[in-house]
Amino acid sequence: MEQPITQVQKKTVLSGIQPTSRLTLGNYLGALKNFVAMQEDYDSYYMVADMHAITVRQNASELRKRSIEILALYMACGLDPEKSTLFIQSHVPEHAMLNWLMCCNTYMGELSRMTQFKDKSAKHADNINAGLFTYPVLMACDILLYQANYIPVGADQKQHVELTRDIAERFNKAYGDTFTIPEPFIPKVGARIMSLQDPTSKMSKSDPNPNGYISMLDEPEVIVKKLKRAVTDSEGEITPNPERAGVYNLLSIYSACLGKTIEETAAEFAGENYGTLKTRTADAVVSMLEPIQAEYKRLLSEKDYLGEVIRNGADKARARAVKTVRKAYHKVGFDSYKL
Ligand code: TRP
Repeated sequence: MEQPITQVQKKTVLSGIQPTSRLTLGNYLGALKNFVAMQEDYDSYYMVADMHAITVRQNASELRKRSIEILALYMACGLDPEKSTLFIQSHVPEHAMLNWLMCCNTYMGELSRMTQFKDKSAKHADNINAGLFTYPVLMACDILLYQANYIPVGADQKQHVELTRDIAERFNKAYGDTFTIPEPFIPKVGARIMSLQDPTSKMSKSDPNPNGYISMLDEPEVIVKKLKRAVTDSEGEITPNPERAGVYNLLSIYSACLGKTIEETAAEFAGENYGTLKTRTADAVVSMLEPIQAEYKRLLSEKDYLGEVIRNGADKARARAVKTVRKAYHKVGFDSYKL
């Protein structure tokens, strides 16, 4: 039977976020907001990367709870389970099944060049496990299982998407065409929100100083307080100059909340003081996050509905993933009739 043309032509997008802690304003403006925009035009897969999370020791019940919470937050931001496939990675066993094949097609040398591995092993010197080392292979499987074309990620993940391309090309060359070669998709606007306390480093959920980041679930008063304390400089003038990292970061946040460019919004603040910039930025953040927070609370109270969305998402994801695993298993010489 012929499918409608739009269905056939839609490109596939996949991305994921680790459920390691609460998501920040940086995750929203840099990633989630784009996920929502992209679901209209692409066949979209958005997953909660719980298998990636255990490269660092996690509390089991917290991990389970947080994975569900992140999925609810995806929905609260506007990801619609009718339009996108929303799922939790560990619910789709094909990720682990493809992983072994891809480990056997990845070189130790490639993995030891990954900057995230170097950073994380320095940070967790007491638990440099093999999973931490092979983590980019699992990420490659996440992408290749769904034959994804575009991967919306932050700049820090670009190296992993490039490795995914190398692994996929190598496999295709050795065994014949099996995987789509993906491309990183790095959004131009609002992609990099920096720490409020150290505006030269990225806003991070693992920042030990909570004043450095705004959590997506922070109460309005907390948001106001954190922005009031944000580091600026002593120049006193509001201009869009990236060298003046603190002021530039506040302008970036304000602009991204309104969906405008920094140049457009900077003019609004000509002659104003930093206090005004901070208050108006806080207003913009609060009015953007408040409806998301309300919807998030509502979804978490609807346990049955959420459970159904999660099960359906896993089924939908598996239906696609199993096709790829069958193909790849057959290519390497495994019998795949059982799958
Ligand atoms: N590694 C990503 C991160 O730490 C999360 C992730 C896991 C991911 N699998 C993915 C992102 C697949 C894009 C595609 O941020």
